[in-house]
Amino acid sequence: GAPQTRTPTGAETGAPATANGQQGTFLTTAQGARLRDTDHSLKAGPRGPVLLQDHHLREKITHFDHERIPERVVHARGAGAHGEFTAYGTAEAVTRAGFLKKGRTTEVFVRFSTVLGSRGSADTVRDTRGFATKFYTDEGTFDLVGNNMPVFFIQDAIKFPDIIHAGKPHPDREIPQAQSAHDTFWDFVSLHTEAQHHTMWNMSDRGIPRSYRTMEGFGVHTFRLVNAAGETVLAKFHWKPKLGVHSLVWEEAQLLGGMDPDFHRRDLYDAIEAGAFPEWELGLQVFPDTPEETFAGIDLLDPTKIVPEELAPVQPVGKLTLNRTPTNFFAETEQVAFHVGHLPPGIDVTNDPLLQGRLFSYVDTQLTRLGGPNFAQIPINRPHAAVNDMLRDGFHQQAVHAGVAPYRPNSLDGGNPFPAGADDDAFVDVPVQVAQAPKMRANPASFDDHFSQARLFWLSMSPVEREHIIRAYTFELGKCYHQAIKERQLQCLANIDPVLCAQVATGLGLPAPEPTVPVADVEPSPALSQVGRQWPAD
Ligand code: HEM
Repeated sequence: GAPQTRTPTGAETGAPATANGQQGTFLTTAQGARLRDTDHSLKAGPRGPVLLQDHHLREKITHFDHERIPERVVHARGAGAHGEFTAYGTAEAVTRAGFLKKGRTTEVFVRFSTVLGSRGSADTVRDTRGFATKFYTDEGTFDLVGNNMPVFFIQDAIKFPDIIHAGKPHPDREIPQAQSAHDTFWDFVSLHTEAQHHTMWNMSDRGIPRSYRTMEGFGVHTFRLVNAAGETVLAKFHWKPKLGVHSLVWEEAQLLGGMDPDFHRRDLYDAIEAGAFPEWELGLQVFPDTPEETFAGIDLLDPTKIVPEELAPVQPVGKLTLNRTPTNFFAETEQVAFHVGHLPPGIDVTNDPLLQGRLFSYVDTQLTRLGGPNFAQIPINRPHAAVNDMLRDGFHQQAVHAGVAPYRPNSLDGGNPFPAGADDDAFVDVPVQVAQAPKMRANPASFDDHFSQARLFWLSMSPVEREHIIRAYTFELGKCYHQAIKERQLQCLANIDPVLCAQVATGLGLPAPEPTVPVADVEPSPALSQVGRQWPAD
């Protein structure tokens, strides 16, 4: 038969595995030799010196010395939980993905995170939140690596190191942890005006969620779905929390940052342990797969743009329930490795240039963070589908591969990996037409609209939400040392909305600039003019 990638378990090695991941009753060395004493070094007499020959001392301390792995370069601070996803069957017409077939239940692991803080930073800072879900489907793992905001700061992954360098602590002083009080952050987003839409989501109450349980989640990018007949649609993924969307107010967020920096982590853990299992509905916005890849004039490949739900309703396709806390934070929450390229048959990517860069970045960073190419064999990352790859050897290889011919086709080990009929269930790279165009480093013209959706967001806010946004901009910009940066950001606000700009300018004690972009370029298009709630004028 074909050689399988298999990872020996305790049972296979002959030793009984116990619930705590250890085996046997006695304390042993890592090699299984029973120990008599682990409290004293081996010394020449009671007053020493300690002997180099003490292999137990050296093993114990060496292992401890290497307990820490690098934290994630972004999203370092997180909390995870296990659960299950049950499909309603409502997506069957648009995707062949088996886990979305009616009644199917799939095990999942979800990791929520902040973006900019380090592993030990506070939970309630103003920031975007990660919402990453690993579906262990029987057709291979599907990772939906999303955020709690539907748009992103940048349109091209080549700018990701730049925005993160601008958001992380200053290189000289290593302050601060969050994007607040940060000259480089405001410098970046006022110079790269495509970031203004996401920044306004951050300055809104969405930037300080009440709980992970009360956050929406978004896949952000547009994906391409393919059904059993080979027909395609474009789609965006949404998570809707059963408890509704709730935020802290700024004073609560600041107090909690000091009093209980683990507030969100604790809330998630306590809720699940108490049996109050958090739930979300997964939903899809579905768009026709046209050559233009637009909907209602919105470029679906631009990750700084939403498609308002009034124009493309979110259709529920299944339910997620988180019902089990991790047994070991390091083994599960820290070692879990998400990747936007983990896709089952029926879900494919688009040319969104941010998504394309992410397809490279995740595995690349995990090669360092998780110590080599075999991290898919770590228990939390193991697929629940049968694995039969031709990947061999490497650091921390757990599998004992049989056979002599790790190449296909071969005439020694069972030959051809694609027996007749099997490709019906295989992943389909949708044969999308690639543009006949010269190579270039450039964006489509539609990517140049940086303010209209920020304005749309602002216009859809209630008076109290607007008040919070004004206060957030005033507070955060007030922490900048450089006046020129504050002035440049006020210029961006002037282009979004004159009332917003005037109020923040007053708070900062600076004059409100005139818009530099024609109003017609910023006003939502007729298709979008009725979007959002209609609030009385301020
Ligand atoms: C980690 C979301 C853009 C590189 C993460 C995580 C989330 C996330 C949720 C944390 C995963 C976890 O909990 O382990 C997003 C979203 C993006 C985006 C929604 C835009 C729509 C990017 C881009 C890049 C990138 C453009 C690079 C070009 C990374 C890296 C990590 C990460 C390197 C750390 C992964 C690890 O160490 O395992 N991202 N991200 N992300 N992201 Fe992104």
